[in-house]
This record gives sequence, C-alpha cells and structure tokens, in this order.
Amino acid sequence: MAMRTHHCAELTAADVGERVELNGWVHRRRDHGGVIFLDLRDHTGIVQVVYDPDEPESFATADRVRNEYVLRASGRVRPRPEGMVNPDLATGEIEVLGATLEILNAAETPPFQLDEYSTAGEDIRLRYRYLDLRRPEMQERLRLRARITSHVRRYLEDAGYLEVETPTLTRATPEGARDYLVPSRTQPGSFFALPQSPQIFKQLLMMSGFDRYYQIARCYRDEDLRADRQPEFTQIDVEAAFVTESDVMALTEGMLRSLFDKVLDVSLPEFPVLTWAEAVRRFGSDKPDLRNPLELVDIADLMVEVDFDVFRRPANDARGRVAALKAPGAAGVLSRKAIDDYQDFVGGYGARGLAYIKVNDRAAGVSGLQSPILKFLGADVVEQVLERTDAVDGDLVFFGADHERVVGDALGNLRLRLGADLGLVEDRWAPLWVTDWPVFDEGRDGTLTPAHHPFTMPRSADEMQTDPARALAKAYDVVLNGVELGGGSIRIHDIATQRKVFETLNIGQEAEVKFGHLLDALRYGCPPHGGIALGLDRLTMLMADTEAIRDVIAFPKTQTAFCHLTAAPAPVDAHQLRDLHIRVTKAG
Ligand code: AMO
Ligand code: AMP
Repeated sequence: MAMRTHHCAELTAADVGERVELNGWVHRRRDHGGVIFLDLRDHTGIVQVVYDPDEPESFATADRVRNEYVLRASGRVRPRPEGMVNPDLATGEIEVLGATLEILNAAETPPFQLDEYSTAGEDIRLRYRYLDLRRPEMQERLRLRARITSHVRRYLEDAGYLEVETPTLTRATPEGARDYLVPSRTQPGSFFALPQSPQIFKQLLMMSGFDRYYQIARCYRDEDLRADRQPEFTQIDVEAAFVTESDVMALTEGMLRSLFDKVLDVSLPEFPVLTWAEAVRRFGSDKPDLRNPLELVDIADLMVEVDFDVFRRPANDARGRVAALKAPGAAGVLSRKAIDDYQDFVGGYGARGLAYIKVNDRAAGVSGLQSPILKFLGADVVEQVLERTDAVDGDLVFFGADHERVVGDALGNLRLRLGADLGLVEDRWAPLWVTDWPVFDEGRDGTLTPAHHPFTMPRSADEMQTDPARALAKAYDVVLNGVELGGGSIRIHDIATQRKVFETLNIGQEAEVKFGHLLDALRYGCPPHGGIALGLDRLTMLMADTEAIRDVIAFPKTQTAFCHLTAAPAPVDAHQLRDLHIRVTKAG
C-alpha cells in the first residue's frame, strides 16, 4: 500500500472531511498547552497537522518529535477555526486533525535553521547542502532549472536540433581559461583536459553533416571565480551549418522569448542590437545593463586645447578617451565623502582621479558650479560640456580621462554603481545583442588575444591582414540585465583564414599541434557554420531572481573552487599517484 494519499501542499478546502495520509519532515513543532501543531513539509510545501490528547498514543508521539524528524501521519482535513486562516500558506485555510502518527526516522538538531530566511553562513550551508536543499526556496530554484532545461530541449528539438554528447576527457579547448587536467595511467606523462566548452567537437559535427546540434553541456574552467562563475558550469550549446549571424540570433531570441513566456509568463521586449563599439561608447561595457538610464558622453573634442593636461593628453591620443557621466539630481544627494568613495571606487578600475562638476545654479554661470577643475577648463568649455550632457540644476557630472579602456571600465562601473545608489535601475527585463566584436583584444603592450575564441570568422579578410587589432568579427553576445548570458559566432570554415588567425595570435606552431585535428577536418569539405552557447546557470539565476549561480546549482563549489560537502579536491593515496606516474612536489 502506498505510504501516502496526498502530498502536503495539495490539500485545499475541497478536501475537507477527507481522511488523508501524509509523509514528510517536521518543519516546525509548536506546543500550545495541550495541543501540538506540526508543520509537516514535503517537496510540495507545508500543511499543519494538529494532535490533541483525544488520541493519547499519537499525542505522546507528537510530543516526542523534533524538527526534521521524518513522519507518516494520518488524519482528517478540516477547516481552520475562524481567525486562524493563514493567507501566507497555500494550505492556510485548512489543517489536518491528526489520528495516527508514526516516526519513520529521527533527526539530530540541524546545524542551522531551515526556514527561508536562514542566516547561516555560506560555508556551513554548503557543507550540509542536502539540508540547505530542503528549504522551499532552494527546492523551487532547482525545479525552475529543470523546467528551463526541459523547455529548451523541446524548443530546440522542435526546431530540428539533434542532441549529441561530446567527450569530457579530451584535449585543451581554447576559451581563454586554465584547463582542468586529468592524468593518464595508460599514457604515462600525458594528460586529458576537461573541456572548457564543446567548441571543437560541435564544429566537427557540422563537418560530419549533422546540420543542427545542441547539447546541455558541462564545461570546466579553472579561472578566478565570482558570483556568476563556477569552475564547472553548464552551457546550452548550439551549432548549425549553412547559417548566418541573423539565423543564430533569431533562433536564440525565439528560444528565450518562448522560455520566458512559458516558464515565467513574461513577454520579453524587443532585443535591441548594439555594435560592440556603440555599447562601449555609450555604456562603457560590452554587456550593458539597459535598465540603467545613465550614459557616457564623449567630450574629447572639447578638450583638445584646454590647459588641463589630464584632459588634453588623452583628447589628443588616438587610444585616449575623455568622457562625462551625468548623475541626475545627485548634486544635493551626494556628500563630499560619497564623491571621495566613488573616486576610490573608480581607482579600482585604474582611473587616476574622478573630476566632477556640481551644477547648483546653471543660470548663474561659473559661480553656480562647484568643481575642482573649473579653473583649468575655462567658462566656454564648461558651458559646452554642460550643454552636451544636458545638465540642469541639481545634477552632478563626473569625468574620466585616460586610455580608452580605463575610461570605459571606470565610468562603466561607476554608471552601474550610481544607478544602484541613486535607485535609477528600472524594474524590467532588458535583453540585447552586442554584435561586431573585435576579432582580438589588444593588450596595453600590443599583444593580441582572441576576443572570443580563435575559430571566430573575421568580417573581412583584408582588414585582418592590414589592421588586425581593429578587425571586426562575425560574433554576437546576448546580454540580459547586464549579465553576459551567451556568446557565439560564425566560424572560420577555410583553412587559410584559420591559419592566418593562429599566426596573428603568434600560436601558429602550437596550434598545429593542439588543434591539428580541426585543421585536418577543414580540408575535407567543411560547410559554413556558426552557433552560440548560453550559460544555463546564469540564465536560471536571472529567471530565479537570485544574485549568485551557486543558488541554482545543486552542489556548487566555493569561490576557491572547493566543495565543502565532499571536501574535494583532496589528496590521494601514494599508490594511486604511482599508477599515474605522478610525484607531488608540494602538498597544501
Ligand atoms: P563563452 O566562453 O562565451 O563561449 O561561454 C558561453 C557562456 O557560458 C557562460 N559561462 C559561464 N557560466 C558560469 N561559470 C563560468 N565559469 C562560465 N564561463 C562561461 C556564460 C557565457 O556567455 N564555445 C563558445 C560559444 C560559441 O562560440 O558557440 C563559448 O564557450 O554565460
Ligand atoms: P589634480 O589637478 O590632479 O588635483 O586633479 C584635479 C581633479 O581632476 C581632481 O578632482 C582629480 O580627481 C581629477 N582627475 C585627475 N586625474 C583624472 C583622470 N585621469 N580622469 C578624471 N579625473 C581626473
């Protein structure tokens, strides 16, 4: 016989009078002088079961149970008495008058409270993750994640995409992070790398003629972790042959639109398309949060001849930038101390100062302004700056002047911070595309690294030859609320261009060894192809409205890539190392 007739939170007023059997955990137990209330919890939620001394045996058992005991309870559903209805609880109109009660298992006192507002530290929650996951909000997040994956699978399969699994014991894949390595026993001294993405395999599948591939793929990257990064994470990985950028973008947009509609009942707005250059110019970011209305305004052309060296120098340098960021209404709100804090804040992004103008009374001219740089600029330049930034009384205008990358970073991050501090961030979904990425990132020393990965198709072969640092790629990122959700590109499908990119990166020789299998494959009839990968964890984090991807991963790792639950990574036995031909020279 089944152990239960209902799940806890299934019960409603319609069940009044029913005799029910329930299984679950004691969420809370309250003794109200002669009556014992048990909040019984299972994966559906909570229902209140009441035991009174009319059933002496069950009452005695109810008296013994403690939080997190596992119970089998039976009883009859009844309406709650007048005034006792709990509108916060799905089952708040009813309760179960307990008849029998069986303890299926006892529990020690949990190391932290399991109510939703648990203030337990992250480490302890991760160490006892199986308890943390009992919390209704954690249950809800993982259920949401499953609904998302299920919907994505259905969407892509309906669109003709075939799920193919690719190896996780493989060679290095070039996504720019460190590899996790796995030593080989059978090939002494050699190592597998865990894939940073299925990138090469999915391209090979296009060469095999599968036409449309997808995979919910686990990826591994040994990099500095942040709230939106884990050492292992999951991609919704997609690739298609004979497609253009707009095909991949339309598929992705359609998928996200239907996902938000079906799972959250949210109708996403249009996805604006910004070029990378425009995003960086207006927002100082390649993943702008468009819920924030603030924008950077370029003013270098006004500074070409000013006396202020700090502004004049970058204004006359091709890679320099002078920009303003207006904080509306901030003049009266931000103290001197707050402005100093912002100066420290942008210092973290390399800015060497943070000039500003407080607009107290614009009609009064220079005397209506407060600023450490007025004396350097001259009244007419100041007036032009205020005009261009549309500054009105009460506004505060900040300035950045430096290498373009420093100004973008500093003012881009200040924009986010001001948006939050001044409460300007709109409550809406703000997706967008960022297209026309540079093929390469140029370091301050002139070295080039791939802006995406080295298989990305340049827009023009000529440009790649003549000015690689300025060459643009057929690459696109999808951004949601300031989070980089995914990125992809049209790939290089001819061997000459692929070799050229490797040479430009100065890895010609190395690439022949590392990616020889891809170069070989390019010789045997490779179709034009392209794709994208979305971070499933980030997508779920946004849809679950949480701040960290840890919250939507069942068993995540810490910021130092450590698993508190299993205490991994861990030392291994000497004989295991011997089998692997490995000697450890330094133990932690
Ligand atoms: P990319 O490196 O941009 O592209 O990765 C795609 C998306 O994966 C997510 N992501 C991460 N999520 C959590 N933790 C991490 N450490 C992490 N790193 C990346 C992000 C990111 O946008 N092969 C290419 C895709 C392609 O070209 O098709 C790739 O991996 O949401
Ligand atoms: P100084 O003459 O160095 O005292 O600078 C005058 C003002 O310009 C101060 O408010 C500095 O914070 C600011 N400042 C200095 N360097 C920069 C810079 N690179 N970008 C923006 N503001 C700066």
